[in-house]
Amino acid sequence: MASSAGRALAIPRLFPKKTPLPWLKPGVFVGCLAPIPVIVWRGATGRLAADPVASILNQFGYLALTLLMASLLCTPLKIAGGWSWGVRLRRMLGLFAFFYASLHFLTYLIVDQSLNLRAVFDDVTKRNFILVGFLALVTLIPLAITSTNGMVRRMGFVRWKRLHRLAYVAGCLGALHFIWRVKVDLREPAIFASILAAGLVLRGFDTVRKRRRKRRSSRAGAAAR
Ligand code: HEM
Repeated sequence: MASSAGRALAIPRLFPKKTPLPWLKPGVFVGCLAPIPVIVWRGATGRLAADPVASILNQFGYLALTLLMASLLCTPLKIAGGWSWGVRLRRMLGLFAFFYASLHFLTYLIVDQSLNLRAVFDDVTKRNFILVGFLALVTLIPLAITSTNGMVRRMGFVRWKRLHRLAYVAGCLGALHFIWRVKVDLREPAIFASILAAGLVLRGFDTVRKRRRKRRSSRAGAAAR
């Protein structure tokens, strides 16, 4: 029998360890859902633009891209500024991006195209801007499906992490979709593209730095042996 003397006493925590910024996740959750009642209210009171379907379609697309960019910024913010709180929001922001991208697509499919699959197929195959949007949505699907802790365990962290790099591909496709949609005034898409590029550059630097550190410590380990 193991002696109890060497064993650490398992004292149940009376007060669980406090999470810093406990309001952060619920606050962001409510913030991400807030546009829905606003859009419904504006629609019900006739406050949408002259073409309400186009207005709703664009708002859902814009929300999807904004939240996708926000989720892609979480890790670069930690690398550059040490703000680790963003990492706790990454999954939620990514899932909300997928949620709004799905609403965007469903508005297009059901309301704009009246479920005419032939017309949708023609649009996807003939208009580059629609094809790129479609590819962005398709890229987001495996990421949403594998976003649970159970899936991380089942796939193994390394494979899961490799798959989730696709989020940057979805971001690039979403930004390109936006650039081709606006055509002339590229100021807003340029902001999205710059954020994405800055995030990618920071992550690239971080990967190189980590690899160098690993190589140096393995060399130091070999020299000590
Ligand atoms: C099958 C997938 C998709 C289809 C068919 C589609 C289609 C469309 C259409 C028809 C428009 C409006 C164009 C116009 O009014 O001239 C639009 C706008 C837009 N879409 Fe998509 N889209 C898709 C996926 C996505 C995804 C995944 C994102 C984001 C990640 C996205 C972001 C946007 C943005 C930002 C706009 C412009 C919004 C604005 O002007 O304020 N779309 N899309």
